[in-house]
Amino acid sequence: MDWFARDFDHPLYFRIYHEKEAEAAQEGPALAGLLDLSPGSRVLDLPCGWGRLQPALEARGLRVLGGDLSALNLQRHRQEFPGPLVRLDLRALPFHDGCADGVFCAYTSWGYFASDAENQAQLGEFARVLKPGGVLLLDLVGRNHLRKIAEPIENTWFRTRDGYRERVRWSPDQRRIWTDRIMEGERFRHDIWIPTGDEVLAFLEHAGFGLDQAFGGLDGCPWHADAARWIYRAIKI
Ligand SMILES: C[S@@+](CC[C@H](N)C(=O)[O-])C[C@H]1O[C@@H](n2cnc3c(N)ncnc32)[C@H](O)[C@@H]1O
Repeated sequence: MDWFARDFDHPLYFRIYHEKEAEAAQEGPALAGLLDLSPGSRVLDLPCGWGRLQPALEARGLRVLGGDLSALNLQRHRQEFPGPLVRLDLRALPFHDGCADGVFCAYTSWGYFASDAENQAQLGEFARVLKPGGVLLLDLVGRNHLRKIAEPIENTWFRTRDGYRERVRWSPDQRRIWTDRIMEGERFRHDIWIPTGDEVLAFLEHAGFGLDQAFGGLDGCPWHADAARWIYRAIKI
């Protein structure tokens, strides 16, 4: 089974990522502001997870439809943040061409697939479902920042505040970050491609996007190479 199909669909995932619940109060309004679409716009929240950012999108008057692969996330979403939801795979979206004004892709939800072709296909699908002039907000971790914070802990198992064990490693070709976790005897392995800034721009262009703005943080400051977050606002050409 692909790592992303298992790790995110496990009940322990919600415990490992519980800090993201509180962080939504800051991330949601900030990212919805950077998406910057008019009230009434139709936005696809892809992938939506358990919907923690949906209220912030709706607070701006956006009409939101969420999609995710994880049945468990969608179940929680239905309970906590009701709204239209679809179970889907990011590589083949079940939506018509040009049906959306915006795609909202938050919290490093690109780079999960093993091949460049599949990661390109995800962006290609985002472009396909957007109207010409539609907006993609792609919120990624900054590669240089991640390298810096991972360096002192790389290859070392440590116990987190939440009581599970974690080890971070870069793949031998330095393109992907592998995060191993052991909690209550269950083992998890995230395996995420972390692109360079040039790679992000090349993949966006190849998918049919033009860059509108690149930000270096939730406050909308300009992109810079060492920023913790690389947030791209791209327009479907
Ligand atoms: C880090 S979470 C981010 C969720 C949400 N954007 C947020 O900020 O809370 C990544 C999500 O991607 C979903 N996912 C992973 N692979 C997927 C795929 N191939 N197709 C659809 N969703 C996928 C997972 O189920 C998980 O909910």
